[in-house]
Amino acid sequence: MGQDENSRRDFLKSAAFVVSSAFAVSACAGGQSETNNQNSAGNQIGKVEDKEKNESEEKEVTAAEDLMREHGILRRALIVYSETAVRLRKKASDVPPDALQKTAKLFRTFGEDYHERQLEEAFIFPVVRQQGGEAARYPDILIVQHNRGREINNYIAAVSNSAKIGANAKDLADALDAFARMYETHAAREDTIVFPAWKEAISDSQYKDLSEKFEAIEHQTFGDDGFDDAVKQIAEIENSLELTDVSQFTAPPPPAVK
Ligand SMILES: [Fe+2]
Ligand SMILES: [Fe+2]
Repeated sequence: MGQDENSRRDFLKSAAFVVSSAFAVSACAGGQSETNNQNSAGNQIGKVEDKEKNESEEKEVTAAEDLMREHGILRRALIVYSETAVRLRKKASDVPPDALQKTAKLFRTFGEDYHERQLEEAFIFPVVRQQGGEAARYPDILIVQHNRGREINNYIAAVSNSAKIGANAKDLADALDAFARMYETHAAREDTIVFPAWKEAISDSQYKDLSEKFEAIEHQTFGDDGFDDAVKQIAEIENSLELTDVSQFTAPPPPAVK
């Protein structure tokens, strides 16, 4: 392809960008008719670009990224637990039991039954264990923590369902904090040691196949999109506890050095 042809393609691409930008602006302003004549050239190039975009979107979430963004949902649940523990110690009657119920249920379905059992315990841990090295000592400990997490989530669900939060406030607060402490460490080790070791142990094509497999398991378990639905659920829980505004978590300035 000659330089002239390249310049022409660059020009067409730029023109398509200008045309599609102009279309977006004028459509918003109700001025669609002014740009109609220019749209057919832009649409042709737009279709090619859409195709490329769709292809890259299909590959977008690989297995390790998938696992790590699932940790993001679980970390948000841990923040709900930690914040609830603070409120339980201050004034237990201000803690809405259904927010805890919903968080424990989300942790069970999305965290324990799906992320831990269907992905980590089925696909990740056996490979890491077999591979040997530093990471191989983790799976046994992590499975103990998965099981302890289940026990604690059962307890959280039972207490918040019995409407006896007041009588259990201190024990519940301690259990929430202990769970958050354990799972913060758990997820951080998985992100930085276990998942990288797993990725290293398998071939590129196995990794690609498993990325698709994880997506398929997610669809089979939750329908359309388990992750998006989980984001929605945790956002609703945060909203009910007034935890939505992230700026409230900005730390105060440090004190002067004494
Ligand atoms: Fe885990
Ligand atoms: Fe995990």
